[in-house]
Amino acid sequence: MKKIFLIMIGFIVLLIMNGCGPMNSSPNDERNEQKQNNHMNPSSEDNHSSGNGRGMMGMNHHDLSLQSSTGENELMIPPILKSDSETENEVYYTIDAQQGQTEIFDGIETKTLGYNSSFLGPVVKLKKGQTAHLTLKNSLDEETTFHWHGLIIDGEADGGPNAVIEPGEEKSITFDVEQDRATLWFHPHPDGNTAKQVFGGLAGLLYIEDDVKDTYEYGENDFPLIIQDRTFNEDKQLDYAAVKDPDGTMGETLLINGTLNPRLTVGKEKVRLRLLNGSNMRNYTIKLSNNTSFEQIASDGGLLNDPVELDEVQLTPSERAEIVVDFSQFKAEDDVKLIMDNNDGEAETVLLPFKMNEQEKVNENKIEQRKNPVTISEEEMEKPVSKEINLSGMGRHVAINGKKFDKDRIDLTQKQGETEVWEVYNESNMMGGMIHPFHIHGTQFKVISINGEKPPENLQGYKDTISIDPGDKAKLAVKFKEKGMYMYHCHILEHEDNGMMGQIEVE
Ligand code: C2O
Ligand code: CU
Ligand code: CU
Repeated sequence: MKKIFLIMIGFIVLLIMNGCGPMNSSPNDERNEQKQNNHMNPSSEDNHSSGNGRGMMGMNHHDLSLQSSTGENELMIPPILKSDSETENEVYYTIDAQQGQTEIFDGIETKTLGYNSSFLGPVVKLKKGQTAHLTLKNSLDEETTFHWHGLIIDGEADGGPNAVIEPGEEKSITFDVEQDRATLWFHPHPDGNTAKQVFGGLAGLLYIEDDVKDTYEYGENDFPLIIQDRTFNEDKQLDYAAVKDPDGTMGETLLINGTLNPRLTVGKEKVRLRLLNGSNMRNYTIKLSNNTSFEQIASDGGLLNDPVELDEVQLTPSERAEIVVDFSQFKAEDDVKLIMDNNDGEAETVLLPFKMNEQEKVNENKIEQRKNPVTISEEEMEKPVSKEINLSGMGRHVAINGKKFDKDRIDLTQKQGETEVWEVYNESNMMGGMIHPFHIHGTQFKVISINGEKPPENLQGYKDTISIDPGDKAKLAVKFKEKGMYMYHCHILEHEDNGMMGQIEVE
């Protein structure tokens, strides 16, 4: 009975929206809200949308397929940022957000944004135990902020939407590095303008190091892969306004570390790939073209307790996974590639073809196990839920607990150092809903359960973002080591910009 009622309401809403939508709304917003998209959960119940979205709506960015890499260009490896000065206990860096021109396509200059460069940014390395002093410069012609995604840092220095740096200005922050080794990243976070700035190229890697023994070498057998999709216009420029989609902007052109049509030359050895989904909204299911398994050794917040053997790994926007592929088992003619599984029967997309350097290498690259295993205590398991987070809507109607972000409103409070259980629910709607990657600033949380069940092994490490399918509920053990104001939000950047974000004050 309830179902029939819902279907009827849905039908009426569709009729109304279809009848008057396109006339009195801008072409890019309302219409897109009812479209079906390629990461709806087909198995979620109450999904009455099958067949209604796509047919009726004209343009549908969500169905944009991603072009395969031809492997023409060797992958760009981001430089490691040189410190202004460094001692055992102290490190100084200057990070400058700037605009520039980058030759992404042969012989063509594309206007881009970057940190200390024209596009993307360098790797900023910090060591556990150090005090970091960062000078942050805004050389853009608009406001920006510098957010340290995944970093345990006080709210003041976290770089959320309240930490605006005006064009031409600079600001310094100081903080202690207190977490274990991890692959983190940094990006802008200005209120309502994050998606555009990231799309333009503002994103860099932040590596935390500690004294765990690690024989991998950066750029030799340890490579970051910042995976992004972009749409370029006819002049090969990035025109965000022209392609912007309120449900998340997808692109048809793949860039890894800013390289078009990338390939990676590797030796016959174990190779560690640090994957970052730096896309505005696209989800990736990543695997090897010959279906060989690999190991995932780290998630968002650092090393897993043990490597997890996987055939594929899924990454929603802002998630990281460090994987190890053993190339000593392959031959050059195997022509192994990193590919994206399109799930929907469509042909797979080649992300990164590997070129194998035949000379036999026998160094057994290794990384020591983590010293303090991630565990969820009995007490944490039994704690009652004290924060309920309800993710709802699509397009411009997205909300958290029915509300849109307001920088003058504090939505939640929590005590420093105390663990609370957050229950995050993706309220699936009649349109079927979509995945929301849920992210919390200033902490690395543990996943207690997903729909009441223990999470898969590769989600049993520290996380700062978790992908939540329509209708799903995740329980998280969340603790803030520092104080201040922090954001929590959907990491589809357009959802964040549309207000799918709240703030929590930690005292
Ligand atoms: Cu990747 Cu609010 O951040
Ligand atoms: Cu963040
Ligand atoms: Cu979302």
